[in-house]
This record gives sequence, structure tokens and C-alpha cells, in this order.
Amino acid sequence: MVAHLALLICLWLLPGAALAAEPRCLSCHAVHYAELGGCLDCHRGDPRSSRLEIAHFGLISGRYAHFRRPGSILVERGGKRIDETGCRRCHIIGGRGNRLATDLDQSVSESAPGELVEAIRRPVLFMPDFHWPDALLDEVVNALYAAACREMAEDELPRIVHFERGEEAGENFFVKHCGACHRVLTAAAGGLGETDNAPNLSGLLTPFFPVKYREDEPFNRDNLKKYLDNPRQTRPLTRMAPVPLKEEDYRQLLEVIAEDVSLIPAENASR
Ligand code: HEC
Ligand code: HEC
Ligand code: HEC
Ligand code: HEC
Repeated sequence: MVAHLALLICLWLLPGAALAAEPRCLSCHAVHYAELGGCLDCHRGDPRSSRLEIAHFGLISGRYAHFRRPGSILVERGGKRIDETGCRRCHIIGGRGNRLATDLDQSVSESAPGELVEAIRRPVLFMPDFHWPDALLDEVVNALYAAACREMAEDELPRIVHFERGEEAGENFFVKHCGACHRVLTAAAGGLGETDNAPNLSGLLTPFFPVKYREDEPFNRDNLKKYLDNPRQTRPLTRMAPVPLKEEDYRQLLEVIAEDVSLIPAENASR
């Protein structure tokens, strides 16, 4: 094994930058957490100015600044929630996830916490509405920052994933057979489907989809067909009615939803 020199970097900081208390910040504030970094590592802001409005530009306030503290309970809870709700079925977080929507490591490096909170509180059409109270949002936003600050091998540069969306297909198979109840984001055809009556199926056949076919068995090309033929066989209480499909139709469905969109770094690429 090659020993990589690991380095904790946040995607918004250049390796080796900051890590020192900033004199201008200290003209108004006392030092704290000096052993964990400099003011900018946890709070951002503009260290060149001693005028409050400028010094605080893009500031990460105290409630969102726990992401660099080892063993933070907020970060741990937020991380769990991100897994349970399956944010990674659409987003890259901490270098892992599906590339169906924005790379959140990138968003976190460019946006202030308030903007992230607003995006989750008032989601766009194809993002589910989680209806979370403020305390949960605090945890999740702290966890998003923590994920964007990760140990990276020294030779790994921050990654930017670009993802092109195609045109929406009017006569799409998914729209016809599933779209009355489900929405989905696809690489080839963009967002499809009309209502949120049923779960958002983005990234259904990837490891990041939160719901499993059966216990620990994720949905895959084989068992999805079984589920559609008879959902009650695996979920006795499910509200989904059977949608039996001919082989040819099923192939069309897979063409829409089974693209390879996951970013799963090789074992020592991240962390
Ligand atoms: C001119 C004085 C001044 C300077 C310079 C200044 N601050 Fe502040 N800061 C304040 C005051 C006053 C408050 C409390 C009121 C407020 O939040 O605006 C505050 C609040 C804060 C808070 C808490 C905000 C919250 O809601 O949790 C943080 C974090 C902070 N400052 C970080 C910084 C950092 C980092 C710098 C340097 C880049 C800096 N400040 C520069 C005066 C200053
Ligand atoms: C390791 C991350 C970290 C570093 C480094 C850090 N802070 Fe904080 N800061 C926090 C956290 C977390 C809070 C929330 C309250 C707490 O835990 O103390 C906070 C809160 C604050 C507050 C709000 C008032 C308070 O104490 O609750 C101010 C002001 C502040 N920090 C300024 C600074 C300045 C100036 C520096 C640089 C000397 C700095 N911080 C360095 C994480 C950090
Ligand atoms: C079904 C797909 C989907 C899921 C699941 C999802 N999102 Fe999103 N999210 C989107 C889309 C679409 C956007 C709008 C930006 C875009 O088109 O990529 C977005 C935008 C965002 C933004 C704003 C990004 C920016 O730069 O403006 C944040 C923050 C965000 N999502 C957080 C989350 C979190 C946290 C979760 C999990 C709790 C989550 N999302 C789950 C689809 C999704
Ligand atoms: C008439 C509405 C309706 C239609 C049409 C429909 N579904 Fe569903 N589907 C649902 C509902 C409601 C659920 C949630 C079931 C539950 O609560 O257990 C669901 C659940 C699912 C699940 C399980 C995921 C989960 O989170 O539980 C999959 C997979 C699924 N549907 C795929 C499809 C596919 C693929 C199609 C099109 C071929 C489709 N559905 C058509 C209503 C529908």
C-alpha cells in the first residue's frame, strides 16, 4: 500500500491556506478553538477588512460552524439523516453520490449557509420537500459542510462534476406509466413525472436509493420487475398497484431510469 499523506481540506480553502487566527477578526473578537484552525476555516468572512459588514461577508455563523469539531453530535445526526433520506440519490455529498442534481460539495463551497437552508426549505420542483424544522436543518447543513471538508490524499484535487441534461421527451415511457404518481430525475431526459403522490424514484437502481426491495437487498434490474408485477408480494401494505409490463416495455423503462450516474470513488480516493 502506498502511504498517502492525508490532509483535511475544505473545498473552499486551498490546501495550507488560512489555519491562522486573523488579526482583523481579532480586533473585535477573542480567539477560540485555535487548536482546530483559524477563524476562516470555520467561519469564512473577509479577513482584509475591519469593517463589520465586509469582514462578515459570507460568514458562517456559530450555529453552522460545528463541522470541523471532531465527534460533533450535530454533524453525526445530520449525516445519518442525509443517509436515511437519500440525498445522495440525486446529489454528490462528500465525494459520493449520484450526479443527477448539483454537486453539493461545490454548492457548499460557493454558498452561504442561509442559501443552503432556503434551498432545502423551499425545494425546486424535482427535489422532495422534507418539511424539516430548524433544528434538523441545522444538523443537516453542518453535516454538508463537514462532508465538503474531508481528508484527501495530497494529490487529489477538488473534483468538479459537470452534468449535462438533455431535452424532456414528451412521449416518454416513464411519463406514461409511472409519471402520474412519481417523479424522477434522469441523465438523458431531465426531470420527468407530474406529482409527488409517490416516492421520488431518482437513482432507484443505484446504491444511494434509500428504500430497499427487501431488507438489505437494493432494487436492481431483476427485482424491480418482480416488484412492479406484484408490489404486495414484498410490501403487503403498499399503496402501489401492480404495473405488469411486457419485456419490451420493461426494457424501455430501464433505458430511462437505469443509467450509470453514480460517483463512487476508488477506495483510497477520498478518506
Ligand atoms: C468591527 C468589528 C468586527 C470585525 C472586524 C469582525 N467581527 Fe465578527 N462580530 C462582530 C460583532 C459586533 C458581532 C455580533 C453582532 C453580529 O452578529 O453582527 C459579531 C459576530 C460574529 C460571529 C457570530 C455570528 C453568529 O450569528 O453566530 C462570528 C462567527 C464572527 N463574528 C466571526 C468573525 C470573523 C471570522 C471575522 C474576521 C473575518 C470577524 N467576525 C470580524 C464584530 C466584528
Ligand atoms: C474549529 C472551528 C472554529 C474555529 C477555528 C473558530 N470558530 Fe468561532 N465558532 C465555532 C463554533 C462551533 C461556534 C458556535 C458556538 C460554540 O460552539 O462555541 C462558534 C461561535 C463563534 C462566535 C459567536 C459567539 C460565541 O462564542 O458563541 C464568534 C464571534 C466566533 N465564533 C468567532 C471566531 C473567531 C474570531 C475565530 C478565529 C479566532 C473563530 N471563531 C474560530 C467554531 C469555530
Ligand atoms: C430527487 C432528487 C433530489 C433529492 C433526493 C434531493 N435533492 Fe437537493 N436538489 C435537487 C435539485 C433538482 C436541485 C436544484 C438544483 C439542480 O437542478 O441541480 C436541488 C438543490 C439543492 C440545494 C441547492 C444547491 C444549490 O447550489 O443551489 C441544496 C442545498 C440541496 N438540494 C440539498 C439537498 C439535501 C440536503 C437533500 C437530502 C435531504 C436533497 N437535496 C435531496 C434534487 C434533489
Ligand atoms: C397510481 C400511482 C402509481 C403508479 C402509476 C406507479 N406507482 Fe410506484 N408507487 C406508488 C405509491 C403510492 C408508492 C408508495 C408505496 C408505499 O407507500 O409503500 C409507490 C412505490 C414504488 C416503488 C417503491 C419505492 C419506495 O420508496 O417504496 C417503486 C420502485 C415504484 N413505485 C416504481 C414504479 C414504477 C417504475 C412505475 C411505472 C412503471 C410506478 N411505480 C407506477 C404509486 C404508483
